[in-house]
Amino acid sequence: MTQQVVLVTGASSGFGRLTVEALARRGHTVFAALRDIGGRNEKAAAELRAMAGAESLDLRVVELDVTDQASADRAVGAVVEAAGRLDVVVNNAGLIFPGPVEAFTAEEAQRQFDVNVLGALRVSRAALPQLRRQGHGALIQVGSISSRVTIPYSGLYAASKAALGSLTEAWRHELAPFGVEAAIVDAAPYPTSIGANAVMPVDAGRFQAYGEGFGRFVGELTGRQTHDPGDPQDVADAIVGLVETPDGERPLRTVVAPAAQYDAVVALNDRAAETARLVAADMGVTAFLAG
Ligand SMILES: NC(=O)c1ccc[n+]([C@@H]2O[C@H](COP(=O)([O-])OP(=O)(O)OC[C@H]3O[C@@H](n4cnc5c(N)ncnc54)[C@H](OP(=O)(O)O)[C@@H]3O)[C@@H](O)[C@H]2O)c1
Repeated sequence: MTQQVVLVTGASSGFGRLTVEALARRGHTVFAALRDIGGRNEKAAAELRAMAGAESLDLRVVELDVTDQASADRAVGAVVEAAGRLDVVVNNAGLIFPGPVEAFTAEEAQRQFDVNVLGALRVSRAALPQLRRQGHGALIQVGSISSRVTIPYSGLYAASKAALGSLTEAWRHELAPFGVEAAIVDAAPYPTSIGANAVMPVDAGRFQAYGEGFGRFVGELTGRQTHDPGDPQDVADAIVGLVETPDGERPLRTVVAPAAQYDAVVALNDRAAETARLVAADMGVTAFLAG
């Protein structure tokens, strides 16, 4: 297995944190990208550095706020200066604005997209010149099955993840001639800090108009006594698996979900890929598709 130089955004908690720890323990050179290292993420940065020291891991912390292009440029520049190359970018940073679509202002929707969609665009824009120069590399996005099947009260989030999926598909085709790959993980809900970090709508009046339905929805979701919440490590392991997959062999979509959902979402993805090939053939542009 080739040791990879990997940059992971949103590495302070959840999937990102588990991913950087797992990658570093497997011997990769890992740059854990956190925003606000001197403030809100001081403790997480210190813990990662302590872990690197205690276990002699090549795990370094780098400042990166995905809502700031200059921050993304600086982070990628620091990685390339320190490691001499960058093999894989994991666009993981994200958050959720849960609630009925109508309750959110356009400004709140912009913030949802600013992190989940434009964040990945900024980091990829910073990294791609280096990846294209190298003639190899990968962009791995952390998406959601809610981009494939949208349930109520997650409309903004699902729309942002659907946009991320579309960008990934376009990158996959456009970057293939440069030897650069794009892939996305369609993850089911897992217990991370995403709930605690959720941003609720400020327009209380609009929100309350849906109060009873939203309340019942949350009650149903959280009240399932027999429901196994799943292990977020499964998502981190899937990302590690993609990092370690040889160039040219990474699948476009990797589904990580409970068994009951897994087969159905994989079948949906397969059907979508087949449909994309048919549409491209009908448009006479099959030659421009990645394999
Ligand atoms: N958990 C799920 O159910 C689930 C399912 C499917 C997909 N996902 C996706 O998985 C990814 C990771 O989420 P998670 O579940 O692990 O939640 P999490 O524990 O809340 O982690 C989110 C990470 O994103 C970071 N982040 C937020 N805004 C940022 C910004 N402007 N710049 C840089 N980093 C920023 C957070 O940093 P701070 O600590 O500074 O806020 C945190 O490190 C997200 O893209 C999420 O949408 C989650």
